[in-house]
Amino acid sequence: MKAALLEKPQTDPIMVDDVECSDPGPGQVRIAISHCGICHSDLTFFEMDGAQVPIVMGHEAAGTVTAIGAGVTSLREGDSVMLSPFAPCDRCYHCVRGNTVLCVEAASMFTGVFPDGTSPFSRNGELVYRGLGVGGFAQETVVGETAAVKIPDEVPRKIASVMGCAVQTGVGAVINTAKVEEGATVLIMGLGGIGISVLLGTQLAAASTMIVSDPVKSRRDKAMELGATVAIDPTDVDVVEFSKDFTAGFGVDYAFDAAGSARLLETGLNAICNGGTTVMVGAPPVEDELRIPAVVAMLTTEKKLIASMYGSADSRREVPRLLDLYRHGKLDLEALITNRRPIDEINLGLDDMRKGEGIRTILEF
Ligand SMILES: NC(=O)c1ccc[n+]([C@@H]2O[C@H](COP(=O)([O-])OP(=O)(O)OC[C@H]3O[C@@H](n4cnc5c(N)ncnc54)[C@H](O)[C@@H]3O)[C@@H](O)[C@H]2O)c1
Ligand SMILES: [Zn+2]
Ligand SMILES: [Zn+2]
Repeated sequence: MKAALLEKPQTDPIMVDDVECSDPGPGQVRIAISHCGICHSDLTFFEMDGAQVPIVMGHEAAGTVTAIGAGVTSLREGDSVMLSPFAPCDRCYHCVRGNTVLCVEAASMFTGVFPDGTSPFSRNGELVYRGLGVGGFAQETVVGETAAVKIPDEVPRKIASVMGCAVQTGVGAVINTAKVEEGATVLIMGLGGIGISVLLGTQLAAASTMIVSDPVKSRRDKAMELGATVAIDPTDVDVVEFSKDFTAGFGVDYAFDAAGSARLLETGLNAICNGGTTVMVGAPPVEDELRIPAVVAMLTTEKKLIASMYGSADSRREVPRLLDLYRHGKLDLEALITNRRPIDEINLGLDDMRKGEGIRTILEF
């Protein structure tokens, strides 16, 4: 089958090559991928030093079950599914407490192999890594049963695919992690697939005021179309001062970093009111460090900094309710998908993201 591979860290372009995909092992399912969105986390892996190679990235995918392994009971061949980067074990300390994104076994998504050290992908007998728990830039992949969520056949697969990362991450950060309440004031920094999904989440939560910030004008315009209150260019406007002025001098209740940098977390901590919350959604580079001068002020102001991994979501519980919101017109997911490309155009898709062209580009198989 065809797959898009990173052959050497920090190289461009990504090559499309023939790769073998194994049969599913016990507790696993094989999926024919129909769509896979390009997320900034894929680009980060492609551009970082020391990525394991060769690797098939792509973790925002949907498709059809083509084979089931021994012991699989919740899925059948022919089922439509959305894939999650997390395959929770349902047994560990975190799983039994309901925090499946912290599952000890699901952490293997960062290793490129299953917990037993194997990968479904190989080329001429050599192991090929499976990126971020899915390996969705391929015609087929194998995932653990708990990472594949059955979806009704009438749900468009491209919609299910963006749910795989952007929507669960952004909406979940608002609803599950921060628990934004009605009437809250919010600042969202970064308006890619993740930030726009945060914006959609704040609308579901009935926030009163959404200040959005991004250097890319077309993305600010899109956010305004989707209901943001006011959009600012951070290269032109002081985000902290603006946020305070816009909220009677107090600062916003919640600030979301949906771009991924320690500097933006600091901006968030300065832009929130006393008692407010800054939510880390973007993934800063590993070398980034947070600077909090006069840290005692965290005590006297009761400011909070919290992190949101994959929207603190368990896909098996989250996807059905997000799909209902979409089907009943309360979640505009079509607006998120601005470009569709065949797998051979993966490098153009990555360029879309680098240039901030549209919101989400998805690969179609
Ligand atoms: N928490 C999670 O589980 C999770 C899941 C998926 C992605 N992510 C991370 O979320 C981040 C966003 O992903 P994406 O796919 O939306 O990326 P993207 O590249 O499509 O969007 C990022 C946006 O941030 C904007 N930006 C850059 N600097 C800015 C600044 N100083 N102020 C305001 N905006 C700024 C860019 O112009 C761009 O529009 C990435 O860091 C990604 O790795 C985290
Ligand atoms: Zn992602
Ligand atoms: Zn677990």
